[in-house]
Amino acid sequence: MALKVAILGATGMIGREILNIMDERHFDADEVFALASRKSVGAEVSFGDRILKARDAEQFDWASCQLCIMATGDAAARKWGNKISQAGCIVIDTSRAFRADPQTPLVAPGVNPDAVEGYTKRNLIAVPDGLTTQLAVVLKPLHEAAGVVRVVVATYQSVSSAGKRAMDELWVQTKGIYVNQAPTPKEFPRQIAFNVIPQVEEFMDDGYTEEEWRISAEIRKMIDNDIQIVATCVRVPVFAGHAEAVHIELAEPLPAAEARALLRQSPGIMVVDKRDEEDGYVTPVDSIGEWATYVSRIRDDPTVENGLAMWIVADNLRNGSALNAVETAELLRNRGVFNAPLEARE
Ligand SMILES: NC(=O)c1ccc[n+]([C@@H]2O[C@H](COP(=O)([O-])OP(=O)(O)OC[C@H]3O[C@@H](n4cnc5c(N)ncnc54)[C@H](OP(=O)(O)O)[C@@H]3O)[C@@H](O)[C@H]2O)c1
Repeated sequence: MALKVAILGATGMIGREILNIMDERHFDADEVFALASRKSVGAEVSFGDRILKARDAEQFDWASCQLCIMATGDAAARKWGNKISQAGCIVIDTSRAFRADPQTPLVAPGVNPDAVEGYTKRNLIAVPDGLTTQLAVVLKPLHEAAGVVRVVVATYQSVSSAGKRAMDELWVQTKGIYVNQAPTPKEFPRQIAFNVIPQVEEFMDDGYTEEEWRISAEIRKMIDNDIQIVATCVRVPVFAGHAEAVHIELAEPLPAAEARALLRQSPGIMVVDKRDEEDGYVTPVDSIGEWATYVSRIRDDPTVENGLAMWIVADNLRNGSALNAVETAELLRNRGVFNAPLEARE
């Protein structure tokens, strides 16, 4: 059965990354369409050695495709997600629009692959971004081995997860400071060059930010609703690669040496943890262009019973929502979801 795939938001940062990853992983599709808003019609995007021309999402016949990967912002995702899924096309969405919806599974294939089966409820699947994924990939094997009870995480988030304009702002402010130019924050609430900002997204009534709320809600949705998580999300002047300092309380004892051995054999994880060597831990710069989630500085936390402390790093552009979306599409394909003719599916 021929598989036709649409990428909505193909002209954006994540849309282009999705096309790159599909090409690198030789995603088996018979036809791939690039879609965007009317203003980008005709814009060219690369798909391996091919060039796709963006089409107008408003004019597209969604019933002609079996799968749409959406990489728009939240508002456009809300508008399009329902329309496309109701046309019979399965939607995998990278935005935040549907992640908290109880009827929509939240899937990181390295964490909860079986949750894809829940797509039948709304013909929709949401995928998490890199920040949540890198933490979930590490917590999952620890939870299975010794039961994760509580997590305290401080993030060190690069500017690339805030989009291209945010990356430009770091670049312009950094150059400007050498020539005495006063920084003008636009994308961030404060100066980002040579600074760190303890606010990622808007504050909520309880004083936490939306990002801090989301990391907790998404980990619990994917792994176990009983896990307690408290986060402090911090933006740092780094272009790409997110880092997290994580403290974990477990139900059962799991000494650092055993946790290190367990994580070493867990899929998607690279442990780099040698105290006496210069390159015995990983920094965001080291993670760029890599698929793995890196774990370093694994220690016993002597201040609580069954406690561990560690440092987790990953390239948020590679190892984030774009990869989750393509891997989720592969899961659906491997499970035969696209084998049935369109009209035979709900
Ligand atoms: N950037 C990241 O690192 C990152 C990380 C994790 C998750 N995400 C999520 O991924 C999504 C995409 O982010 P991005 O950074 O790639 O955004 P972006 O660069 O602004 O691209 C947005 C894309 O969506 C299209 N679009 C916007 N509104 C549309 C509409 N009403 N109808 C049709 N197409 C529309 C745009 O088309 P036009 O060119 O025609 O406007 C463009 O192709 C967001 O939900 C974001 O939260 C991003």
